[in-house]
Amino acid sequence: MINKMMIAENIYSVGKVDDRDVPFHRLTLTKGTTYNSYLLNTEKPTIIDTVDISFGKEFVDNLKETVDLMKIQYIVINHTEPDHSGGLGSLAAQAKNATIVCTEKAVEELKEMYKLHKRNFLVVKDGDKLDIGGKTLLFLETPYLHTEETMITYCIEDKILFPCDIFSTHIANTEVFNDLAKEDIFEDFNVYYTLIMHPHRKHVQYMINKIKDLDINMIAPSHGYILRTEIEKFVGVYANLSKNTTTNKSATVIYSTMTSNTKKLSQSIADFLNAEGITAVTVDVNKTPKEEVLDYINSSDIILFGSSTRYGDMIGSLEDVLKELKAMDLSNKIVAAFGSYGWSGESIEVIQDYLVDTNANVLETSKVIKSTGMSDVAFPIRIRFTAKEESLQDVERACEYIGNLALNAI
Ligand code: FEO
Repeated sequence: MINKMMIAENIYSVGKVDDRDVPFHRLTLTKGTTYNSYLLNTEKPTIIDTVDISFGKEFVDNLKETVDLMKIQYIVINHTEPDHSGGLGSLAAQAKNATIVCTEKAVEELKEMYKLHKRNFLVVKDGDKLDIGGKTLLFLETPYLHTEETMITYCIEDKILFPCDIFSTHIANTEVFNDLAKEDIFEDFNVYYTLIMHPHRKHVQYMINKIKDLDINMIAPSHGYILRTEIEKFVGVYANLSKNTTTNKSATVIYSTMTSNTKKLSQSIADFLNAEGITAVTVDVNKTPKEEVLDYINSSDIILFGSSTRYGDMIGSLEDVLKELKAMDLSNKIVAAFGSYGWSGESIEVIQDYLVDTNANVLETSKVIKSTGMSDVAFPIRIRFTAKEESLQDVERACEYIGNLALNAI
């Protein structure tokens, strides 16, 4: 069923109610969900987000009854995941004059996903505004909520926030507004936050800071209820649950370095872990007695092992330590390999081979993708030569992931 309703002057909810058991991130949404899309029927008609790819044709057929598709000027895509951008292919095929509005990160994804290489795109950045003829849209980038390319859109005149996945609930509601709900939706709202947003809680805090000065009358997300009452309470859930949480976990970053690049990387890892509320220290394996290194391993919850690569292998006495691991009980520990390298970085992979032969929880990219859907966090941590700004961001993201594991947030 298409959910069509005017929610403010010239603003319509035109999304889809999906009351099936919906497969989602290896879960089943037993209450279904909705894919909320919005038409701002101004002098320059604008669509904000679309619907799941399964319902693209139905969505476009319905939209035709309300607006001349050839008059649509803008299609705003806040988030590229196909439950929201899925109708873009069908819509763009008929809304031939529309410019697609999105972040820079989203452009290539949308072009590839919907074969839109020849379409006009308008790339917006944090704080950009767009006049749509009688209304003004403000765009705020919200990376990692919950994927890298996401943004939120705010209609200044109507004081409506369109945050896509953020502030959503997975309920196949037909009442549209939260105050008309026949059930208490806070539990579902909290569950949604925990599953989708909490692993990115630092970025939730950034988002809260960005919207704190906006006067918000209504939050129109892309799943579930439109929130028009108790807005502070709903925003407060995100603000409070995402606050930095300290852990009682400890980490040791054990390294063997040739030119100091791996040593510097070790310190960066320790700094980022400390920022996650984990007490982290670095240990130079070549300057520390082996028994002392093993004590560090025994007393730490998280241990990272890193080495430079020389002639295709690790250097120094790290391997002497790694040979001990198989006989140790590491069952409650998280371990990972890392290293700076110049050409192939074989030592990092050799360290990984030692780690997977233990009973520890060994961090690897495949586990990250399966547990979070994030494809931008990689283990082992491999940095070519010296860590530069962009590669340090990768290290920080990896440490955020470890921080979430330490908090049992994923
Ligand atoms: Fe509702 Fe990230 O898609």
